[in-house]
Amino acid sequence: MSSPVLPEAPSLHQSIIVLGVLASGSGSNLEAITKAIANGQLQAKIAVVIYNEPDAFAKQRAQKFGIPAILINHRDYKSRKALDLAIINILKQYNADLVIMAGWMRIVTQVLIDAFPERILNIHPSLLPSFKGIHAIEQAFDYGVKISGCTVHLLSLEVDSGKILKQSAVPILDNDKLEDLQKRIQVQEHIIYPEAIAEYALKLSL
Ligand code: GRF
Repeated sequence: MSSPVLPEAPSLHQSIIVLGVLASGSGSNLEAITKAIANGQLQAKIAVVIYNEPDAFAKQRAQKFGIPAILINHRDYKSRKALDLAIINILKQYNADLVIMAGWMRIVTQVLIDAFPERILNIHPSLLPSFKGIHAIEQAFDYGVKISGCTVHLLSLEVDSGKILKQSAVPILDNDKLEDLQKRIQVQEHIIYPEAIAEYALKLSL
């Protein structure tokens, strides 16, 4: 008698997305992503944090969570391309599936984009395509717009011009000071960045 054909058991394996994070400053987005991983919202692992400013607080946040933090000081490289090659080398060593820019304040070259095509995400504190570049929050505030926000997008060579993955709108209230708007935008960044990573990884079947 032949044995019955059983339905395939559901796989217990859930793939873990390997992230490499680039940060230059405080690292609050890094921490938000780390917490989303810890609470199961994001099935991922941050394999490495690369930071370029020796005193970046992002380094301490990484270490607090036991994530390897590697300093790649841009001042030690003679060109943007040389810097990007050093970054690629580390990201490949750590098998990054996605590269997450979380306050990375260096202009990138095509070399980095080509090494991770459509695999580099960035977050920007405005509703792109409005207010690209630095001081985006100040630009929106000074302009007097009534709604600003934040945008997760794919990295492109032209600054803040890649395909938009997710946005959150943030109102600017009449009595707001710049700091009020900054705080309100960061709250939204910390919500949408982990969500955008999870959604994009799903779309890519990572
Ligand atoms: C964020 O506001 C992000 O939009 C911009 O840089 C800032 C980084 O903040 N690209 P943090 O280092 O994650 O706290």
